[in-house]
Amino acid sequence: MKFIVTKSYEEMSRKGADLIGAQVLVKPNCLLGLATGSTPIGLYAELVRRNQEGSLDFSKVRSVNLDEYCGLSPESDQSYHYFMNYHLFSKVNIPFENTRVPNGLAEDLAQEGLAYDAYIAQQGGIDLQLLGIGHNGHIGFNEPDDVFTAATHCVDLTESTITANARLFASIDEVPTKAITMGMRSIMAAKKILLVANGLGKQEIVKQAFFGPVTPKCPASLLQLHPDVTVITDFDVE
Ligand code: GLP
Repeated sequence: MKFIVTKSYEEMSRKGADLIGAQVLVKPNCLLGLATGSTPIGLYAELVRRNQEGSLDFSKVRSVNLDEYCGLSPESDQSYHYFMNYHLFSKVNIPFENTRVPNGLAEDLAQEGLAYDAYIAQQGGIDLQLLGIGHNGHIGFNEPDDVFTAATHCVDLTESTITANARLFASIDEVPTKAITMGMRSIMAAKKILLVANGLGKQEIVKQAFFGPVTPKCPASLLQLHPDVTVITDFDVE
């Protein structure tokens, strides 16, 4: 586990972009696992800047996203499809067909989960997985539970996640109550993991995840068992 403590959100974003840029440089056709949420927005902006100035090439990069709300179409501006198009895919030279986000509109979500995991395996597995962390320790939408769930699956979002994400919707009633998320197996099988967290509101959960017990009550704690995790924060973790 490597911790990089930065002085600001901007520095965290630049250092995160450095790692992703390095991954793309050493393996131009790498499979990136991507995340949504407010935290990586600055990192994506930095990747876009580097791509547009010509120092970072996404033409061979492939990507898989962690999760999507159930019931939202890719055109809905609260969907994670829309988020990714808006913040990254439409602004860099990644071929659109190289990108994949779970389909929250799939009629058979269990089948969509199986197909998603099969796709990741067929692509050779994730080279670098980017993660944020929820206030309750969720990664992707793997919510606190009695067990870790391995496969891509449909989840009932917790009250705290619905409340936390309500800021992005017109009202809390519009926040979907279900999502489809990559499971812990695909995340843990990634060759490298980069987790970014900013703001003192995330300090306690980051400490709990990386220095507390490994438990499905805090899904991110499983990352303690991964051999190559870098955590970049803008707060102390001691
Ligand atoms: C969302 C996403 C996660 C994200 C988390 C934190 O629910 N599913 O992938 O890491 O919440 O979001 P934020 O970065 O906005 O705090």
